[in-house]
Amino acid sequence: MANFDRAFIDQVLSSTDIVDVIKEKVNLTKNGTNFKGLCPFHSEKTPSFNVSSSKQFYHCFGCGAHGDAIKFIQEHDNLTFIEALTKLAQAAGLELPEKTKKNDTYYNLFISNKLAAEFYSRSLENNSEAKTYLENRGIDQGMIETFHLGLSNNKWDDLTNLFSKEKIINNAIEAGLVIKSNNKTYDRFRNRIMFPIRNSTGNIIGFGARIYNSDDGAKYLNSPETKLFHKSYELYGLYECKKDIAKEKSVIIVEGYTDVIGLYKSDIKNCVATLGTAFTKFHFNKIKRYTNKIIFCFDGDAAGKSAAWKAITNCLPELKDEIQLYLIFLPEGCDPDSYVKDEKDNFDNLINNPMPLSEYIIEHLGTDIDIKTVEGKTSFALEAKKVLNQMPDIMYTDILREKIQQMTGNIILKKNQATHDKEKNTSSDTSQEFDIKELTLLNLLIEYPMLVKEFNCEHIITEKTLINIYNVIREEISKNENFTAAHLLKLFPNNEAVRSIVTFESNEKSEDSARVTIQEIFHQLELSSKEKVYFELLNRYTDGQSLSEKEREFIKNFKK
Ligand code: UTP
Ligand code: MN
Repeated sequence: MANFDRAFIDQVLSSTDIVDVIKEKVNLTKNGTNFKGLCPFHSEKTPSFNVSSSKQFYHCFGCGAHGDAIKFIQEHDNLTFIEALTKLAQAAGLELPEKTKKNDTYYNLFISNKLAAEFYSRSLENNSEAKTYLENRGIDQGMIETFHLGLSNNKWDDLTNLFSKEKIINNAIEAGLVIKSNNKTYDRFRNRIMFPIRNSTGNIIGFGARIYNSDDGAKYLNSPETKLFHKSYELYGLYECKKDIAKEKSVIIVEGYTDVIGLYKSDIKNCVATLGTAFTKFHFNKIKRYTNKIIFCFDGDAAGKSAAWKAITNCLPELKDEIQLYLIFLPEGCDPDSYVKDEKDNFDNLINNPMPLSEYIIEHLGTDIDIKTVEGKTSFALEAKKVLNQMPDIMYTDILREKIQQMTGNIILKKNQATHDKEKNTSSDTSQEFDIKELTLLNLLIEYPMLVKEFNCEHIITEKTLINIYNVIREEISKNENFTAAHLLKLFPNNEAVRSIVTFESNEKSEDSARVTIQEIFHQLELSSKEKVYFELLNRYTDGQSLSEKEREFIKNFKK
């Protein structure tokens, strides 16, 4: 926690015995110097949850949950960091410094969202029109409570007043609840049904908001990206459904808030939804902590099909043998919410017989291709190879490759051995995996020094070693236009990275074609380096570190 007094945290931890803390919630038995029990974070029959007294640490070999006493309380009791710390501090008879409490931005943002959600909840209770709207959609009081649904009134200053009164208007602005512009403040959400979005521990991190009695404006409005809220990371319904995900040993991924609620109402409670973005690898890595079986549910129309392929390609590089992906496609024009209401049996049937990923990939690749012809087989094999190359080196990939090879008349789809070895060598030689694009770029610049002046690669290259080499190349070429690879080797006699750069074969035969290639690489690296920075910053956020104004600005403006 960024603004937190590390010394105080250490004091609390050293006054606490993690074994005592966990014993209160989990039945632990002694196991050598450690303690063992059934993991409280996933469902299991044989204990894989370990607590180390000497290390003051817990670790579950089943689901990977781990941490210290504070983390345990946080996760187990659904508390914020500061709430968990306070609890342990109290138990240890330590007084939490008031100043630190006020300084904790995360705490303040959580509290602001909680306050807003309670306000929205009361507003819904008092508005019969909105309640009737929900009723007509089959959302009853039980669902309203489970999902903590609310209403923002048709006013500009409800929250503004609420938060001004509480003297915490700046927190509300930072949480995206209130907008400040030209010295005026006003409520972001007006006249909408409010869907609080909770993180996995139950704290509200943002809101989705739907119009209900007019056609004005976008159907949904979401909280903006804030310190707490990152759309491409979070999944709606995870907190509400995680117990059922564990119980069912599977999760269904849908696209909308109302789909999660509608399915829940129909007793299908192991669902989560993305928040109006594509399903990203971050979603994938988050959800796979909860279950190994992931079922994507998409519309059967063109948009649904393209969203499906996008989601799958985002997951492919992250696949593991233990994880099974499936897809189901609903009839055109249906979403899960409407389909489950009208045709529950058909929906159940789809869920019970989803399409395995391998089948989907093959079907998708074969779209519009006649695999009986030589031409068809060739283009199928070409496309398949691209997809297989995206996948990690796991058994699943091997088996899928085998299957596709059979379909294409046993054409060999494995990366050819020479390329494979070469790639392996390059990476082991340099003992780091340099991005092939960055290596190509530097190789071309050395080969065509005139191009160094045309392209400023300063913020394009991300590898520290390569940046360093780039700077040297640039400086040397500015002094000597005839600078060559041989000169570079002389300057870095034993540098493996330089050796890979100069021995790399780019295959560009002229300055013009090199220029085109550089332009393309430039474009790709620019995108990915921005993305890299974006996600590094997000990770720092989620780890509780504070970011500078400039970094926050970058996150806000980043569009994928
Ligand atoms: P849908 O248009 O399918 O909405 O968008 P829905 O959830 O089924 O809602 P109902 O049934 O019409 O009430 C799917 C998801 O895409 C995002 C929301 O997250 C929504 O749940 N979305 C949609 C937006 O963010 N903005 C929009 O204007 C529309
Ligand atoms: Mn819908």
